[in-house]
Amino acid sequence: MALREIRVDSDPILRKKSREVSEVTDRIKLLVEDMIETMYEADGVGLAAPQIGILKRICVIDIYDETGVKVLINPVIVDQKGEYLDTEGCLSIPGVSGYVERPAYTKVKAMNLEGEEFFLEGEGLMSRAICHELDHLDGVLFTDKVIETDDLDETDEVNEVGE
Ligand code: NI
Repeated sequence: MALREIRVDSDPILRKKSREVSEVTDRIKLLVEDMIETMYEADGVGLAAPQIGILKRICVIDIYDETGVKVLINPVIVDQKGEYLDTEGCLSIPGVSGYVERPAYTKVKAMNLEGEEFFLEGEGLMSRAICHELDHLDGVLFTDKVIETDDLDETDEVNEVGE
């Protein structure tokens, strides 16, 4: 496993649309391992492949609950309900956070590392993390959706979604 460099700010790769993964090869498995390691090293809740310069539809999420890390390959949203407003940040936009409205519930269909289809659903932070990471696969950043910038001071608690 190896740490990968996280692309930040105006890096044009963050604005590109990622391509579907046709097959889960050993190379893809290695990439996913690196993504997980890189996410943990950066204390992130999620990481999408374009954030490390790879335009493939892959993201990893861990909201640090009891269910462990999620690997989503070619994820597609199949259901969403409700909405809620909370703060977000992104490892690719260091030092910035803001309020973004996201669905309160999201269900996605994706492929796992065995190449099998599965469903992942989540509420609250998990729903937010899924939406944030899937946006990265289409070149969309949370700052595109910010309703109100959160003026951070040292005492603020921030959900570091996507970091
Ligand atoms: Ni992000």
